[in-house]
Amino acid sequence: MESIIFSSNIAQDLDVFLKNHKFSKLGVITDSNSVDACYPLISKTLPEHSYFSFSAGEVHKNIETCSQIWQWLTDQAFDRKSLILNLGGGVTGDMGGFCASTYKRGIRFINVPTTLLSQVDASVGGKLGIDFNGYKNHIGIFNEPEAVFISDVFLKTLPLAELRSGYAEVIKHGLICHENYFESLKMQDWENQDWKAIIEKSISIKKEVVAKDPKEDGLRKILNFGHTIGHAVESFYLDSEQHLLHGEAIAVGMVAEAFLSRKLLGLSSLDLQKISDFLLFVFGKVSISEEDMDYIMRKCFQDKKNEGDVINCSLLRRIGQCEYNIPVSGENIIQSLHFYNNLRQ
Ligand SMILES: NC(=O)c1ccc[n+]([C@@H]2O[C@H](COP(=O)([O-])OP(=O)(O)OC[C@H]3O[C@@H](n4cnc5c(N)ncnc54)[C@H](O)[C@@H]3O)[C@@H](O)[C@H]2O)c1
Ligand SMILES: [Zn+2]
Repeated sequence: MESIIFSSNIAQDLDVFLKNHKFSKLGVITDSNSVDACYPLISKTLPEHSYFSFSAGEVHKNIETCSQIWQWLTDQAFDRKSLILNLGGGVTGDMGGFCASTYKRGIRFINVPTTLLSQVDASVGGKLGIDFNGYKNHIGIFNEPEAVFISDVFLKTLPLAELRSGYAEVIKHGLICHENYFESLKMQDWENQDWKAIIEKSISIKKEVVAKDPKEDGLRKILNFGHTIGHAVESFYLDSEQHLLHGEAIAVGMVAEAFLSRKLLGLSSLDLQKISDFLLFVFGKVSISEEDMDYIMRKCFQDKKNEGDVINCSLLRRIGQCEYNIPVSGENIIQSLHFYNNLRQ
């Protein structure tokens, strides 16, 4: 598994790492926001290098941008002994890692994730890839970076909405694996968190799950809690005027799937209430109309992970314990969206 370095001085720690590793050429792949917000924090101490910055955003996580990156690597004569440093959020890590892993059959790369989401989620587990013709993460591979450097210094420039989006995955980690962790999050004023401690804890939870099931044959599916309905909500809002960040959609999905957990796995009503109260407190409420519910339900069934007319979800038996492959019907999903809609903020 990748080695993760928690860094209190990112420029210095990268410097030490790069001095101890041999490479013919260093290239930095970053996006148009990270190049302003994050690159200056490391650029002065980096050895000689060139960088490539692509337009920020999920819409650019595609084959056209990969083509530009591969062309840049070619123009700059990167060879098989080169090293790539991916600096940015999950889009940069997923796409930069994918490009490095396929260029000349694969060159080494390191990741410096700069969003909370990419630090607690995308940095672990070796999934790399891009979107293709509207299908999210449709083309990709599993491959590990040489190292991942995590520093909360990058979070200072991150827009609050992006920070909150990553926080949804943090809450998820508590809900699926660690009751005390979830409770400790609930106790805090979420805007004044000890991010370093949170990132370390969340990464340790994800690492433990991924180590037991690297290719998602079983247990790793628990990381999808909130994501069956959450992804459908996310793609519904992609097609509409209002835009939802990933974590904002997953927050809706976690409330709805907590309802399904109560109905199908016996999650207690107290746990259900704790989950929905906290998620609504952090994320507020999205309104979902009757027609939208039907669309979202149908989207759930289009999910590539599912077969037939029931979908398998990962649901909670209690806070801190998640089970996977629980069959859920379309009617169940509609009921869960009604439950969400009827909650009072
Ligand atoms: N590989 C995995 O296991 C995995 C897991 C979860 C998510 N992902 C992927 O990660 C992506 C989402 O990641 P994300 O939320 O980091 O998105 P992102 O990379 O688009 O970053 C979000 C926004 O923040 C900006 N940004 C990044 N760092 C910043 C900083 N320090 N200061 C100011 N602005 C900054 C970016 O330019 C972007 O506009 C999705 O494509 C998702 O599929 C992958
Ligand atoms: Zn997610």
